[in-house]
Amino acid sequence: MKKYVSELLLIPGPTPVPAEVALAAAQNMMSHRSGPFKKLMLDLAAKLQKLLQTQNDIVILSSSGTGGMEAAVSGCFSKGDKVLVAAVGNFGKRWIKLAKTFGLDVEVLEYACGQAVDPSAVKAVLAKDQDKRIKGVFFQMNETSTAVLNDVEELAKVIKAHGALIVVDAISGFLASELKVDEWGLDVVVTGSQKAYMLPPGLAVVAVSEKAKKAAETSDLPKFYLSLKAALKQAAEGQTPYTPAVGLIYQLVAAVNMLEKEGLESVFARHERLMKAVRSACRQLGLRLLNENDRTASRAVTAVYPPEGIAADDIRKKMKDDFGITLANGQDELKGKIFRIGHLGYIDPKDVLAAIACLEITLSKLGAPGIQWGRGVQAVQDILTQTK
Ligand SMILES: Cc1ncc(COP(=O)(O)O)c(C=O)c1O
Repeated sequence: MKKYVSELLLIPGPTPVPAEVALAAAQNMMSHRSGPFKKLMLDLAAKLQKLLQTQNDIVILSSSGTGGMEAAVSGCFSKGDKVLVAAVGNFGKRWIKLAKTFGLDVEVLEYACGQAVDPSAVKAVLAKDQDKRIKGVFFQMNETSTAVLNDVEELAKVIKAHGALIVVDAISGFLASELKVDEWGLDVVVTGSQKAYMLPPGLAVVAVSEKAKKAAETSDLPKFYLSLKAALKQAAEGQTPYTPAVGLIYQLVAAVNMLEKEGLESVFARHERLMKAVRSACRQLGLRLLNENDRTASRAVTAVYPPEGIAADDIRKKMKDDFGITLANGQDELKGKIFRIGHLGYIDPKDVLAAIACLEITLSKLGAPGIQWGRGVQAVQDILTQTK
């Protein structure tokens, strides 16, 4: 017998979609070559610039986030270019694979699960690159697989001093915490619709600096559908090279209006508050976090080890079967070893309160030792009371 009537999706993407955003897709289609659509796209780009705190050009690609990453690699670099990837997890590895796929000469700085990129290590690699062979440095703002937030500002400082393009995968990090594209001098910033934008999957929004645009002019790597140069040219006119995902664009307009109304500061604050609540609750329940460092804690997701003797997969299964709450699995070598609680996008304090209460029941039923009713819930209540 089913024990619940509504689902709660607590994974770091796709995230729940608000009714306003879901309904926006139900509008009549319009010609993507019409004047009103061009205006809609130009207005949307201006609003996205505000959220990204940038004057840089914005392109909207009809693809998931990885399409934006691919457009950055194939669009801004040329045959034989050397690039540096600073990888702290599964999505860092994606930068490596992508760059290698396009034949770039890839140097890698890799970190153990749960660690953040050390800006001084990046600085040391770049300092050795006297003849400036390294043309770009790639990293994640937020590494979703290990629940780590990198220090984008510090990383950008050391890369700027060298001169390589700064290419940031902010797919799961954007809107969960501060990202000052212009102030920090980021060249290519990739974001994805199914994260804190609160949209279904299918759009990648990419911010491109003047310096990156120059690189795109001369880039000779193969590309067609995801050509950054073609997308930039068209975006200037409120257009896209091919038919855009018009329904998703309508939804993006609705979501961006909601975010604008809420205000960036409060969007960041609500993510920080939920992150603190989840981390504190897990600790009170005696659960070990993959990333124990609060300074580099992901605002989007928390990665948690199960108690000794209990399988992470059993926790996820019981949360789903008994309460309709979906938690994320680990990825790569962490598959089955951890569970991840998403707190990204359209998630409320009451969702987290419920999830932690259900986690207490789940752990207790699975025989976790020392579960005292309410300890996790109280930790959430404390954080919610202490923070605005
Ligand atoms: C940090 C990060 N980068 C890249 C991706 C890949 O994005 P997509 O699955 O939308 O292609 C994800 C998706 O989870 C992500 O979290």
